[in-house]
Amino acid sequence: MAKDKTLFSCSDCGGTSPKWLGKCPHCGAWNTLVESVVSDSSASKNRYSERAGLAPASAVMALSAIEAQDMQRTPTGQDELDRVLGGGMVEGGVVLIGGDPGIGKSTLLLQALDGLQRSGQSTLYVTGEESGAQVALRARRLGLDNSQVNVLAETQLDKIIATLQAQSPQVAVIDSIQTVYSDQLTSAPGSVAQVRECAAHLTRLAKSSGTTVVLVGHVTKEGALAGPRVLEHMVDTVLYFEGDTHSSYRLVRAIKNRFGAVNEIGVFAMTEKGLKGVSNPSAIFLSQHAEPVPGSCVMVTLEGTRPLLVEIQALVDSGGPSPRRLSVGLDRDRLAMLLAVLHRHAGVACMDQDVFVNAVGGVRISEPAADLAVMLAIQSSLRGKPLPRGFLAFGEVGLAGEVRPAPRGQERLKEAAKLGFSVALIPKANAPKKPIEGLTIHAVERVDEAVAVLRHLD
Ligand code: TYD
Ligand code: MG
Repeated sequence: MAKDKTLFSCSDCGGTSPKWLGKCPHCGAWNTLVESVVSDSSASKNRYSERAGLAPASAVMALSAIEAQDMQRTPTGQDELDRVLGGGMVEGGVVLIGGDPGIGKSTLLLQALDGLQRSGQSTLYVTGEESGAQVALRARRLGLDNSQVNVLAETQLDKIIATLQAQSPQVAVIDSIQTVYSDQLTSAPGSVAQVRECAAHLTRLAKSSGTTVVLVGHVTKEGALAGPRVLEHMVDTVLYFEGDTHSSYRLVRAIKNRFGAVNEIGVFAMTEKGLKGVSNPSAIFLSQHAEPVPGSCVMVTLEGTRPLLVEIQALVDSGGPSPRRLSVGLDRDRLAMLLAVLHRHAGVACMDQDVFVNAVGGVRISEPAADLAVMLAIQSSLRGKPLPRGFLAFGEVGLAGEVRPAPRGQERLKEAAKLGFSVALIPKANAPKKPIEGLTIHAVERVDEAVAVLRHLD
């Protein structure tokens, strides 16, 4: 059998070197050499079956002549997980699921594997972080006492691949990709080279054998998946767990999906018996104050198919010579921009103040429709005056001080009315043609108008 070689390849020019160097001998770039394995013979083809790419090779055909096939999906029985996957697991699909430690990745996947096993699929749970006994203990806790899920406690890539080939399960979970290592590389498990190499082998195996492979990945402090970004390009679906580990609600968001919609979210509650799907999640991210408090404004976000009401909180407090701007769950650069717009176009100045903003419940909001709510929460905190009871706002704010519409405004307003909200401040272009029962609507075109409406409502 031909032996694979370890080489160092430049991530800029692709040039290789037999040993690690600080500077690439080909293009002269610094710190770009990364360890990798190169198989130098066709014999290695048989090792992990064919070295196929992502899709099987085929002859050139006109698009119209290719038969469109619907993906065969297998539901996991966890409805909220199936929703983000686009209906269920796809044969030969590779799913990467990331999230903070302790957020519930192992719990959810064990529950999903059990559901699949019960529906007649063969499954394998490869654990590198916990022993088989620990996994069994978790299963007992989840009430899965007589679960038939197969468990393998192993971290060596070759052994995992051999087991996958011998057993050819329909669905396999690798918990986690950072603990798996290949003997071919000298770098430590969890390093960029190891994670990339192991994920590439497992992806190829999934494509050639039809096994659905789910890779669990850790997330760094900065919120990115530990390991190279290339992992996200390699796989078919990337899911992220969001939520505050201290609260019981968790969101699973699809940020890439070759087999379904992105930005779809699944909502779970962590209970004594594991994660339970929340099918009607619209009100879970509100903090339910007995009386309205300054610095709080509710918005309706619509990422995926369901509207969610989220409370945005702001605290504006006198700062030092270089005031701080911090945000949790919202984009910090966007916050700086909103403060500038608020000053320039509505005459509200926070130059000498610390400004903190937070999306309640650990949700991450990336859509610009949050702008108006962030701005109003800041203004409310600065004035020390709460927004009216039953108030909500959404809309994008532009650098010229204009308030732009949010997509699917009607749906957002209807959901808010259903939950008992009574006053909405929204972009003019989102104003409904017919009144919505129980909801008074203030439609504005500019930021200064929005601020004036609030003064008027006091
Ligand atoms: P876990 O799935 O181990 O997280 P991850 O794999 O993402 O690191 O989740 C562990 C947390 O979930 C832990 O804090 C305990 C809690 N938990 C429950 O609240 N109920 C349960 O039934 C289980 C199994 C865990
Ligand atoms: Mg875990």
